[in-house]
Amino acid sequence: MNDNFRDPLGPVFDGEAVAGSPEGGAETELGHLPVMVDEVLETLAANSGSLHIDATLGGAGHAERILEASAPDGRLLGLDADGAAIARGQRRLARFGDRAVLRQANFRELVLVAPKAGFGAVDGLFMDLGLSSFQLGDVQRGFGFRAGGRLDMRFDTSHGRSAADLLATMDAAELTALFRKYGEEPFAGRISRAIVETRVRTPIETAEQLAALVERSVPAPRAHRTHPATRVFQALRIAVNDELGALEAGLAASLVLLRPGGRLVVLSYHSLEDRIVKRFIATEQKGCICPPEVPICVCGRQPRLRSLGKSRAPGVAEVQSNPRSRSARLRGAERVAA
Ligand SMILES: C[S@@+](CC[C@H](N)C(=O)[O-])C[C@H]1O[C@@H](n2cnc3c(N)ncnc32)[C@H](O)[C@@H]1O
Repeated sequence: MNDNFRDPLGPVFDGEAVAGSPEGGAETELGHLPVMVDEVLETLAANSGSLHIDATLGGAGHAERILEASAPDGRLLGLDADGAAIARGQRRLARFGDRAVLRQANFRELVLVAPKAGFGAVDGLFMDLGLSSFQLGDVQRGFGFRAGGRLDMRFDTSHGRSAADLLATMDAAELTALFRKYGEEPFAGRISRAIVETRVRTPIETAEQLAALVERSVPAPRAHRTHPATRVFQALRIAVNDELGALEAGLAASLVLLRPGGRLVVLSYHSLEDRIVKRFIATEQKGCICPPEVPICVCGRQPRLRSLGKSRAPGVAEVQSNPRSRSARLRGAERVAA
Protein backbone atom coordinates (compact mmCIF):
# COMPACT_ATOMS: atom_id res chain seq x y z
CA MET A 1 0.00 0.00 0.00
CA ASN A 2 1.16 3.53 -0.72
CA ASP A 3 2.70 4.86 2.49
CA ASN A 4 1.01 8.24 2.26
CA PHE A 5 -2.33 6.59 1.90
CA ARG A 6 -1.57 4.26 4.81
CA ASP A 7 -1.08 7.37 6.89
CA PRO A 8 -4.48 8.94 6.51
CA LEU A 9 -4.44 12.07 8.57
CA GLY A 10 -0.83 13.13 8.36
CA PRO A 11 0.88 15.89 10.31
CA VAL A 12 -1.55 18.52 9.14
CA PHE A 13 -4.24 16.83 11.19
CA ASP A 14 -2.17 17.30 14.29
CA GLY A 15 -3.71 20.18 16.23
CA GLU A 16 -0.35 21.91 16.57
CA ALA A 17 0.52 21.64 12.89
CA VAL A 18 -2.88 22.94 11.89
CA ALA A 19 -2.64 25.92 14.17
CA GLY A 20 0.59 26.82 12.43
CA SER A 21 -0.73 26.24 8.91
CA PRO A 22 -2.42 28.81 6.71
CA GLU A 23 -5.74 27.01 6.98
CA GLY A 24 -5.76 26.41 10.73
CA GLY A 25 -6.08 28.62 13.79
CA ALA A 26 -8.60 31.41 13.66
CA GLU A 27 -11.61 30.62 11.53
CA THR A 28 -11.91 32.67 8.35
CA GLU A 29 -14.41 32.34 5.53
CA LEU A 30 -11.62 30.90 3.38
CA GLY A 31 -10.18 28.71 6.16
CA HIS A 32 -10.63 25.40 4.32
CA LEU A 33 -8.80 25.03 1.02
CA PRO A 34 -10.83 22.88 -1.39
CA VAL A 35 -8.83 19.86 -2.55
CA MET A 36 -8.18 18.96 -6.25
CA VAL A 37 -10.73 21.55 -7.22
CA ASP A 38 -9.79 21.71 -10.94
CA GLU A 39 -9.89 17.91 -11.24
CA VAL A 40 -13.26 17.80 -9.44
CA LEU A 41 -14.71 20.43 -11.79
CA GLU A 42 -13.34 18.71 -14.86
CA THR A 43 -14.77 15.33 -13.79
CA LEU A 44 -18.17 16.76 -12.84
CA ALA A 45 -18.33 18.59 -16.19
CA ALA A 46 -20.80 21.18 -14.81
CA ASN A 47 -22.31 23.59 -17.32
CA SER A 48 -25.10 26.14 -17.53
CA GLY A 49 -28.43 24.85 -16.39
CA SER A 50 -27.04 21.77 -14.63
CA LEU A 51 -28.24 20.50 -11.26
CA HIS A 52 -25.65 19.35 -8.75
CA ILE A 53 -25.51 18.05 -5.22
CA ASP A 54 -22.54 18.76 -3.00
CA ALA A 55 -23.18 16.26 -0.20
CA THR A 56 -20.34 17.59 1.99
CA LEU A 57 -20.53 21.37 1.85
CA GLY A 58 -17.79 22.07 4.46
CA GLY A 59 -16.35 25.52 3.73
CA ALA A 60 -18.32 25.62 0.42
CA GLY A 61 -15.15 26.00 -1.70
CA HIS A 62 -16.10 23.26 -4.18
CA ALA A 63 -19.74 24.37 -4.14
CA GLU A 64 -18.75 27.90 -5.07
CA ARG A 65 -16.74 26.67 -8.04
CA ILE A 66 -19.56 24.36 -9.19
CA LEU A 67 -22.00 27.29 -9.07
CA GLU A 68 -19.58 29.46 -11.05
CA ALA A 69 -19.13 26.71 -13.65
CA SER A 70 -22.88 26.24 -14.01
CA ALA A 71 -23.73 29.97 -14.38
CA PRO A 72 -26.06 31.59 -15.15
CA ASP A 73 -28.82 29.22 -14.12
CA GLY A 74 -27.34 25.97 -12.77
CA ARG A 75 -28.48 25.07 -9.25
CA LEU A 76 -26.78 23.31 -6.38
CA LEU A 77 -28.05 21.51 -3.31
CA GLY A 78 -25.45 21.67 -0.53
CA LEU A 79 -25.70 19.31 2.44
CA ASP A 80 -23.68 19.03 5.58
CA ALA A 81 -24.32 17.19 8.81
CA ASP A 82 -22.72 20.12 10.65
CA GLY A 83 -25.01 23.11 11.19
CA ALA A 84 -21.99 25.46 11.41
CA ALA A 85 -20.99 24.48 7.84
CA ILE A 86 -24.47 25.31 6.58
CA ALA A 87 -24.41 28.72 8.29
CA ARG A 88 -20.99 29.43 6.80
CA GLY A 89 -22.15 28.21 3.38
CA GLN A 90 -25.16 30.57 3.48
CA ARG A 91 -22.77 33.49 3.85
CA ARG A 92 -20.26 32.35 1.26
CA LEU A 93 -22.86 31.43 -1.37
CA ALA A 94 -25.28 34.33 -0.74
CA ARG A 95 -24.33 35.98 -4.05
CA PHE A 96 -25.82 33.03 -5.96
CA GLY A 97 -29.29 33.69 -4.54
CA ASP A 98 -31.75 30.81 -5.02
CA ARG A 99 -29.30 28.93 -7.23
CA ALA A 100 -27.84 27.55 -3.97
CA VAL A 101 -30.12 25.52 -1.70
CA LEU A 102 -28.55 24.43 1.59
CA ARG A 103 -29.80 21.85 4.09
CA GLN A 104 -28.36 20.45 7.30
CA ALA A 105 -28.58 16.69 6.78
CA ASN A 106 -26.50 13.55 6.75
CA PHE A 107 -25.87 12.32 3.22
CA ARG A 108 -27.09 8.88 4.30
CA GLU A 109 -30.54 10.53 3.97
CA LEU A 110 -29.91 11.80 0.43
CA VAL A 111 -32.67 9.84 -1.29
CA LEU A 112 -35.20 11.48 1.04
CA VAL A 113 -33.72 14.96 1.33
CA ALA A 114 -32.75 15.66 -2.31
CA PRO A 115 -36.15 15.08 -4.01
CA LYS A 116 -37.87 17.16 -1.30
CA ALA A 117 -35.52 20.04 -2.14
CA GLY A 118 -36.23 19.72 -5.88
CA PHE A 119 -33.09 17.70 -6.69
CA GLY A 120 -34.62 14.29 -7.50
CA ALA A 121 -32.76 13.89 -10.83
CA VAL A 122 -29.35 15.53 -11.03
CA ASP A 123 -26.34 15.90 -13.33
CA GLY A 124 -23.73 15.48 -10.64
CA LEU A 125 -23.21 14.27 -7.08
CA PHE A 126 -20.03 15.24 -5.28
CA MET A 127 -18.70 13.95 -1.95
CA ASP A 128 -15.55 15.27 -0.26
CA LEU A 129 -15.25 12.92 2.70
CA GLY A 130 -14.02 13.44 6.23
CA LEU A 131 -13.76 16.68 8.14
CA SER A 132 -12.98 20.29 7.28
CA SER A 133 -10.21 22.49 8.63
CA PHE A 134 -12.90 24.52 10.41
CA GLN A 135 -13.91 21.46 12.42
CA LEU A 136 -10.32 20.45 13.05
CA GLY A 137 -9.37 23.93 14.22
CA ASP A 138 -12.30 24.22 16.66
CA VAL A 139 -10.99 23.01 20.03
CA GLN A 140 -14.52 22.40 21.30
CA ARG A 141 -15.04 19.65 18.69
CA GLY A 142 -12.16 17.42 19.87
CA PHE A 143 -10.90 16.38 16.42
CA GLY A 144 -7.28 17.56 16.86
CA PHE A 145 -4.78 16.04 19.30
CA ARG A 146 -4.02 19.12 21.33
CA ALA A 147 -7.54 20.38 21.60
CA GLY A 148 -8.44 21.37 25.15
CA GLY A 149 -12.18 20.91 24.74
CA ARG A 150 -14.29 17.82 25.26
CA LEU A 151 -13.57 14.81 23.08
CA ASP A 152 -16.72 15.06 20.97
CA MET A 153 -15.95 14.32 17.28
CA ARG A 154 -19.59 14.36 16.10
CA PHE A 155 -20.17 16.12 12.78
CA ASP A 156 -23.74 16.74 13.93
CA THR A 157 -23.52 17.74 17.59
CA SER A 158 -27.29 17.65 18.09
CA HIS A 159 -27.48 13.88 18.52
CA GLY A 160 -25.52 10.64 18.75
CA ARG A 161 -22.74 9.53 21.08
CA SER A 162 -19.51 11.47 21.44
CA ALA A 163 -16.03 9.93 21.37
CA ALA A 164 -15.77 10.54 25.15
CA ASP A 165 -18.96 8.49 25.62
CA LEU A 166 -17.55 5.60 23.62
CA LEU A 167 -14.30 5.67 25.61
CA ALA A 168 -16.26 5.67 28.88
CA THR A 169 -18.56 2.75 28.03
CA MET A 170 -16.97 0.28 25.59
CA ASP A 171 -15.04 -2.62 27.10
CA ALA A 172 -11.42 -3.37 26.20
CA ALA A 173 -12.34 -5.99 23.58
CA GLU A 174 -14.76 -3.62 21.84
CA LEU A 175 -12.24 -0.78 21.85
CA THR A 176 -9.54 -3.07 20.47
CA ALA A 177 -11.82 -4.19 17.64
CA LEU A 178 -12.73 -0.57 16.86
CA PHE A 179 -9.11 0.64 16.74
CA ARG A 180 -8.15 -2.32 14.52
CA LYS A 181 -11.09 -2.06 12.16
CA TYR A 182 -11.19 1.68 11.60
CA GLY A 183 -7.61 2.66 12.42
CA GLU A 184 -5.61 -0.45 11.46
CA GLU A 185 -3.83 0.30 14.75
CA PRO A 186 -1.10 -2.28 15.51
CA PHE A 187 -1.11 -1.53 19.26
CA ALA A 188 -4.90 -1.61 19.61
CA GLY A 189 -4.87 -4.08 22.54
CA ARG A 190 -2.34 -2.15 24.63
CA ILE A 191 -4.10 1.15 24.04
CA SER A 192 -7.51 -0.27 24.94
CA ARG A 193 -6.22 -1.79 28.16
CA ALA A 194 -4.61 1.54 29.10
CA ILE A 195 -7.93 3.32 28.46
CA VAL A 196 -9.88 0.90 30.63
CA GLU A 197 -7.31 1.08 33.46
CA THR A 198 -7.08 4.87 33.33
CA ARG A 199 -10.79 5.61 33.24
CA VAL A 200 -11.33 3.88 36.61
CA ARG A 201 -9.36 6.73 38.18
CA THR A 202 -9.90 9.58 35.69
CA PRO A 203 -12.52 9.89 32.96
CA ILE A 204 -10.92 10.45 29.53
CA GLU A 205 -12.74 13.51 28.36
CA THR A 206 -10.35 15.62 26.33
CA ALA A 207 -8.43 15.04 23.10
CA GLU A 208 -5.29 16.09 24.91
CA GLN A 209 -5.73 13.36 27.56
CA LEU A 210 -6.33 10.67 24.93
CA ALA A 211 -3.36 11.72 22.80
CA ALA A 212 -1.07 11.65 25.85
CA LEU A 213 -2.41 8.24 26.94
CA VAL A 214 -1.75 6.72 23.50
CA GLU A 215 1.72 8.26 23.39
CA ARG A 216 2.52 6.61 26.77
CA SER A 217 1.09 3.23 25.71
CA VAL A 218 2.97 2.59 22.46
CA PRO A 219 6.68 2.38 21.60
CA ALA A 220 8.21 5.71 20.54
CA PRO A 221 7.88 6.11 16.76
CA ARG A 222 11.10 5.73 14.78
CA ALA A 223 10.35 8.69 12.57
CA HIS A 224 8.30 11.69 13.65
CA ARG A 225 6.05 11.84 10.63
CA THR A 226 2.78 11.47 12.45
CA HIS A 227 1.56 11.58 16.01
CA PRO A 228 1.22 8.05 17.51
CA ALA A 229 -2.45 8.75 18.23
CA THR A 230 -3.34 9.43 14.58
CA ARG A 231 -4.90 6.02 13.96
CA VAL A 232 -6.84 5.99 17.24
CA PHE A 233 -8.32 9.42 16.50
CA GLN A 234 -9.25 8.33 12.99
CA ALA A 235 -10.92 5.16 14.30
CA LEU A 236 -12.97 7.02 16.90
CA ARG A 237 -14.12 9.65 14.41
CA ILE A 238 -15.20 6.99 11.93
CA ALA A 239 -17.11 5.12 14.62
CA VAL A 240 -18.74 8.19 16.19
CA ASN A 241 -20.11 9.31 12.81
CA ASP A 242 -20.60 5.84 11.30
CA GLU A 243 -18.68 7.29 8.37
CA LEU A 244 -18.37 4.08 6.37
CA GLY A 245 -22.06 3.19 6.76
CA ALA A 246 -23.02 6.71 5.66
CA LEU A 247 -20.68 6.44 2.68
CA GLU A 248 -22.32 3.20 1.51
CA ALA A 249 -25.76 4.80 1.76
CA GLY A 250 -24.60 7.97 -0.01
CA LEU A 251 -23.08 5.99 -2.86
CA ALA A 252 -26.25 3.91 -3.24
CA ALA A 253 -28.23 7.18 -3.44
CA SER A 254 -26.25 8.18 -6.53
CA LEU A 255 -27.93 5.35 -8.46
CA VAL A 256 -31.35 6.77 -7.61
CA LEU A 257 -30.57 10.46 -8.08
CA LEU A 258 -28.23 10.69 -11.08
CA ARG A 259 -29.74 11.09 -14.53
CA PRO A 260 -28.23 8.96 -17.31
CA GLY A 261 -24.94 10.70 -18.11
CA GLY A 262 -24.86 12.26 -14.62
CA ARG A 263 -21.59 12.01 -12.71
CA LEU A 264 -20.56 10.76 -9.30
CA VAL A 265 -17.30 12.25 -8.00
CA VAL A 266 -15.80 11.25 -4.64
CA LEU A 267 -12.71 12.51 -2.83
CA SER A 268 -11.54 10.15 -0.10
CA TYR A 269 -8.68 10.49 2.34
CA HIS A 270 -7.88 6.99 3.57
CA SER A 271 -7.86 3.50 2.20
CA LEU A 272 -10.98 2.32 4.10
CA GLU A 273 -13.07 4.93 2.30
CA ASP A 274 -11.36 4.58 -1.05
CA ARG A 275 -11.81 0.81 -1.03
CA ILE A 276 -15.57 1.23 -0.57
CA VAL A 277 -15.80 3.74 -3.43
CA LYS A 278 -13.63 1.60 -5.73
CA ARG A 279 -15.66 -1.56 -5.06
CA PHE A 280 -18.96 0.23 -5.45
CA ILE A 281 -18.00 1.58 -8.88
CA ALA A 282 -16.54 -1.79 -9.96
CA THR A 283 -19.69 -3.68 -8.88
CA GLU A 284 -22.08 -1.24 -10.52
CA GLN A 285 -20.02 -1.18 -13.70
CA LYS A 286 -20.11 -4.95 -13.95
CA GLY A 287 -23.85 -5.34 -13.54
CA CYS A 288 -24.17 -9.14 -13.29
CA ILE A 289 -23.55 -10.55 -9.80
CA CYS A 290 -24.06 -14.25 -10.62
CA PRO A 291 -21.44 -16.56 -9.07
CA PRO A 292 -18.66 -17.53 -11.52
CA GLU A 293 -19.87 -21.17 -11.64
CA VAL A 294 -23.22 -20.10 -13.17
CA PRO A 295 -22.61 -20.30 -16.97
CA ILE A 296 -25.36 -17.86 -18.03
CA CYS A 297 -26.47 -14.76 -16.16
CA VAL A 298 -29.61 -15.36 -14.14
CA CYS A 299 -29.55 -12.23 -11.99
CA GLY A 300 -30.38 -9.94 -14.91
CA ARG A 301 -28.56 -6.97 -13.36
CA GLN A 302 -27.39 -4.39 -15.87
CA PRO A 303 -24.42 -2.04 -15.40
CA ARG A 304 -25.56 1.18 -13.78
CA LEU A 305 -22.25 3.06 -13.76
CA ARG A 306 -19.31 3.51 -16.09
CA SER A 307 -16.00 4.18 -14.37
CA LEU A 308 -14.24 7.35 -15.47
CA GLY A 309 -10.84 5.72 -15.09
CA LYS A 310 -8.29 5.10 -12.38
CA SER A 311 -8.15 7.10 -9.20
CA ARG A 312 -6.33 10.42 -9.33
CA ALA A 313 -4.08 12.03 -6.72
CA PRO A 314 -3.23 15.71 -6.24
CA GLY A 315 -0.20 17.13 -8.02
CA VAL A 316 3.07 17.97 -6.29
CA ALA A 317 2.35 21.71 -6.29
CA GLU A 318 -1.01 21.23 -4.54
CA VAL A 319 0.48 18.93 -1.89
CA GLN A 320 3.17 21.53 -1.22
CA SER A 321 0.73 24.39 -0.89
CA ASN A 322 -1.95 22.38 0.96
CA PRO A 323 -0.45 19.41 2.84
CA ARG A 324 -3.94 18.28 3.83
CA SER A 325 -4.51 17.25 0.23
CA ARG A 326 -1.69 14.74 0.19
CA SER A 327 -3.73 11.61 0.92
CA ALA A 328 -6.65 12.57 -1.35
CA ARG A 329 -7.86 10.16 -4.03
CA LEU A 330 -10.46 11.18 -6.57
CA ARG A 331 -12.73 8.65 -8.28
CA GLY A 332 -15.49 9.32 -10.76
CA ALA A 333 -18.19 7.37 -12.56
CA GLU A 334 -21.01 8.14 -14.94
CA ARG A 335 -24.58 6.87 -14.60
CA VAL A 336 -25.57 4.77 -17.56
CA ALA A 337 -29.16 4.19 -18.67
CA ALA A 338 -30.54 0.89 -17.39
C1 LIG B 1 -13.66 17.75 3.73
S1 LIG B 1 -15.01 18.68 4.27
C2 LIG B 1 -15.69 19.33 2.78
C3 LIG B 1 -14.97 20.54 2.30
C4 LIG B 1 -15.63 21.23 1.12
N1 LIG B 1 -15.61 20.42 -0.06
C5 LIG B 1 -15.02 22.59 0.84
O1 LIG B 1 -14.71 22.88 -0.32
O2 LIG B 1 -14.85 23.35 1.80
C6 LIG B 1 -16.17 17.45 4.69
C7 LIG B 1 -17.48 17.97 5.23
O3 LIG B 1 -18.41 16.89 5.12
C8 LIG B 1 -19.22 16.84 6.25
N2 LIG B 1 -19.68 15.45 6.38
C9 LIG B 1 -18.94 14.36 6.65
N3 LIG B 1 -19.70 13.26 6.64
C10 LIG B 1 -20.97 13.67 6.34
C11 LIG B 1 -22.20 13.00 6.16
N4 LIG B 1 -22.31 11.66 6.31
N5 LIG B 1 -23.28 13.72 5.82
C12 LIG B 1 -23.19 15.07 5.66
N6 LIG B 1 -22.04 15.77 5.83
C13 LIG B 1 -20.95 15.08 6.16
C14 LIG B 1 -18.35 17.32 7.39
O4 LIG B 1 -19.16 17.87 8.42
C15 LIG B 1 -17.48 18.37 6.69
O5 LIG B 1 -18.02 19.66 6.83
